Amino acid sequence: MRRKVPLTQATITSIVFYLLAIRFSVVITIGQCRHHYLHLNSDNIRFGPRRVHPTSGPQQVDISIDEGQAYVLVVVLEKMSGAGKTVCVTGASGYIASNIVKLLLQRGYAVKASVRYPNNPAKTDHLLKLDGAKERLHLFKADLLEEGAFDAAIDGCDGVFHTASPFFTSVADPEKELIEPALKGTLNVLGSCSKASSVKRVVVTSSLAAVAFNARPKTPEVVIDETWFSDPEFCKEMKLWYVLSKTLAEEAAWKFAEEKGMDMVTINPAMVIGPLLQSTLNTSAESIANLMNGAETYANSSLGWVNVKDVANAHIQAFEIPSANGRYCLVESVVHSSELVEILRKLYPSYPLPQKCADDKPLATTFQVSKEKAKSLGIEYIPLEQSIKETVESLKEKNFLNL
Ligand SMILES: NC(=O)c1ccc[n+]([C@@H]2O[C@H](COP(=O)([O-])OP(=O)(O)OC[C@H]3O[C@@H](n4cnc5c(N)ncnc54)[C@H](OP(=O)(O)O)[C@@H]3O)[C@@H](O)[C@H]2O)c1
Repeated sequence: MRRKVPLTQATITSIVFYLLAIRFSVVITIGQCRHHYLHLNSDNIRFGPRRVHPTSGPQQVDISIDEGQAYVLVVVLEKMSGAGKTVCVTGASGYIASNIVKLLLQRGYAVKASVRYPNNPAKTDHLLKLDGAKERLHLFKADLLEEGAFDAAIDGCDGVFHTASPFFTSVADPEKELIEPALKGTLNVLGSCSKASSVKRVVVTSSLAAVAFNARPKTPEVVIDETWFSDPEFCKEMKLWYVLSKTLAEEAAWKFAEEKGMDMVTINPAMVIGPLLQSTLNTSAESIANLMNGAETYANSSLGWVNVKDVANAHIQAFEIPSANGRYCLVESVVHSSELVEILRKLYPSYPLPQKCADDKPLATTFQVSKEKAKSLGIEYIPLEQSIKETVESLKEKNFLNL
């Protein structure tokens, strides 16, 4: 049953007592409300949310009712916490940024989205089709390396999500292709933020790449947390150019924010997977596509993984929660590639998944990443297996898989 009803306390109370009376599962859609979830004062009703899925439209709130022994799932209200606020998202065409834009629009924000190629439908169509885009999404052209290019997009914004940065693992000229746009681009965007007096907080998409790459030993017992920093010299030695670009960019961002007294938060996700909104294939989703498309071997590496919906949510929570500060590592699980392949094999046995490791060395050890700080943003991670499934289904839908 699906009914649309205006949200008032009296309506909610009557819905719950109706549910009690009929002992039946019902789905109710309540739109346009500023509350996250129901607040009911009744001794025999416990209410959620146990798990909130802010990116999947209306949020879900579990209500369990003791006396009636009925168990109901009520789909409730979109969180409209952004109504009346304007924010900028840089690199909005990209995988993570598109998911941030989608969620911001769902929450009622007006979004000024910077893209490199506003006239290329492959880079913008998916954004223009989002719910709320017609009314509240505005595209701005900006390149990271063009001084002042972000001024117009950032001017008048309450907050900025700086996500634009190249993510490639094989490049011919690391300085030009990765380090310059990441480092100079970040300072360029922060420069525009410091000129705009309206900006209250900047949320920078950094990476676990800027956290975990140093000479400290990693074992399954080691817990990496926000106090860790990657070492640029170590990155250069290992020729980890993308990792270096993120490390230098975050370092420079903190220095800039401190000098200018800017309220900045960084989000440091591990490898991000989950549904793609854009029509092009990004690097982290490509790592799954390659395994599904007949790669002969899997890498001898252990990596952290996290769902893009949790990453998008964490960005917005980091903007909205006044006490949010510093860095936030985002990792649901750390697994060796062999384990990732086993999950894929279980879910998709007919695909030509690799059987062997790329080398005969001992398997790279796993490690842990602390979830404590992310909890304060209200993040309850989507499990890895579900994230993998969502990624593959999305890759299939967008024709990125050969089978
Ligand atoms: N995906 C992950 O696993 C992961 C994990 C941790 C952190 N991150 C970080 O998340 C951010 C987004 O990554 P993503 O995975 O969403 O990758 P993506 O889809 O490739 O997005 C990168 C974005 O940066 C933009 N960009 C690159 N160079 C630019 C330039 N010179 N001027 C303006 N924009 C430029 C791209 O614009 P075009 O669309 O025009 O190319 C694109 O919108 C990056 O900062 C990345 O380091 C990603």
